[in-house]
Amino acid sequence: VVVQLTGIAPVAETERSVTRRICKAIKAQIGAGRFGLGARLPSTRSLAAEWGVSRTTVTAAYEQLIAEGYLETRRGARARVAQSLVRDISTKQRPAPERIAHRLSRYGQRLDAFSLPPTPSGSVNVDFRYGDMSAADFPTLVWKKAVSAALLRRPKRLRYGDPNGSPELRAALQGYLWRARGLRCDAEQIVVVNGSQQGLDLCARLLLDPGDRVFIENPSYNLAQQTFIAAGAELIPLDVDREGMRTDGLRDARLAYVTPSHQFPLGSVLSAGRRQDLLAWAQRSGAYVIEDDYDSEYRFDIGPIPALQTLDRAERVIYLGTVSKTLSPTLRLGYLVVPAALRFAFGKAKRLADRHTPGLEQEALADLLASGAYERHVRRARRRNGSRRAALLSALSDILGDQVTVVGADAGLHVLVWLNQVPRAQEDELIARARAAGLGLHAISPLYAHPVSDGRPDLAGLVMGYASLSEQDIEQGVRGLKLILDHFGPSPCADG
Ligand SMILES: Cc1ncc(COP(=O)(O)O)c(C=O)c1O
Repeated sequence: VVVQLTGIAPVAETERSVTRRICKAIKAQIGAGRFGLGARLPSTRSLAAEWGVSRTTVTAAYEQLIAEGYLETRRGARARVAQSLVRDISTKQRPAPERIAHRLSRYGQRLDAFSLPPTPSGSVNVDFRYGDMSAADFPTLVWKKAVSAALLRRPKRLRYGDPNGSPELRAALQGYLWRARGLRCDAEQIVVVNGSQQGLDLCARLLLDPGDRVFIENPSYNLAQQTFIAAGAELIPLDVDREGMRTDGLRDARLAYVTPSHQFPLGSVLSAGRRQDLLAWAQRSGAYVIEDDYDSEYRFDIGPIPALQTLDRAERVIYLGTVSKTLSPTLRLGYLVVPAALRFAFGKAKRLADRHTPGLEQEALADLLASGAYERHVRRARRRNGSRRAALLSALSDILGDQVTVVGADAGLHVLVWLNQVPRAQEDELIARARAAGLGLHAISPLYAHPVSDGRPDLAGLVMGYASLSEQDIEQGVRGLKLILDHFGPSPCADG
């Protein structure tokens, strides 16, 4: 068999690259079927002579192909194409990737069934997407200084850290949570995680078995819902009213997930009576309550609401916090406060998930907390977001008047806006129309676990985040919304 290699190595080519090219050529010959399974290859001597390269080069190529499993050889005999080689290695003959069957685990199958949020097409001028923050608000200099200081402190040996989090950060968080949220816990109860999302994921892994029941608020944070569904849990949605989640429907379950200080997305505060009901239920049924305290730093018209965890006398509450609303969602830094007896289980789960949260960022955050820079920054961020919120509320009231009903504006970084003249069935159309006009709006419907909820008005609703926008953008965005709304029905103001 004559194997033809086109363009034999130019003088400058290294021996290694010639070897690589020979390997490639032989693989192509096998792939094209010119060498069948078990076929003998030419001797190294004849190939070397034919190609004008040294025998060592050809031998190196054969050895490489033997190591990769394309060729095999017995002592003294010439190399052959390996019998074990799947004949059809030519990429041309491979079935199309979408026709290859894959089997996911049950967990994977549940996950696969979720629809990904649609990739927004086209750019928008003003986007009210909740969760985005303004890069201009990030304390770049302070953070840079803290990261540089952490880098300079690096010990000679780089080693894995404590899966539960760096002791310095946990000590600093313990002090902060006591000052800011009245939490009483030991630093050992704190687990540093990569954002609240990892906290939820660890809770689901550690506390739920497939088939377990989980109570959630309806509507609620969709990533929390998906985390529990992926774990195989059965979600039981409970309606939300002015006093937060209704607790009269609580019965036997493993877990409840709540946002008691500022219900996401409706904004109500869980009343004192319902807090007691919830804790009593958890104690009675041996269930846990995840308290997601995602935006408690932002209170505007009302004083701080003590965390649910502060009322827990039976170690049933798992407290979850994040810096995604104070510093940046891109940092992926959050923390759990878990019952003391669970701290090792959480540490072990965290270790398997990713060993630990990145050390430099942990050190930087610990620095900010210990020096008071974090709380100074939070105060500034609160002022800035307070101005944005004021701009949004006055634009909504001045420009849209009674075309909208605004709820949940006392706290947090979003408001919920019901569109009084747009039926729920037209929500998608409205969002699409807005996007086509360069305005990013986000519907409430995907946050409902049950499409029908007693408390839900039959209206389109928007979750309007404002923390990434300038006051001018906010006003421009609300004017844009006015134009869209006018298309859907006559404004009562225009009528009048
Ligand atoms: C209810 C709720 N919890 C938590 C988070 C923050 O998640 P993370 O800390 O993973 O960024 C968000 C973000 O939008 C949220 O809405």
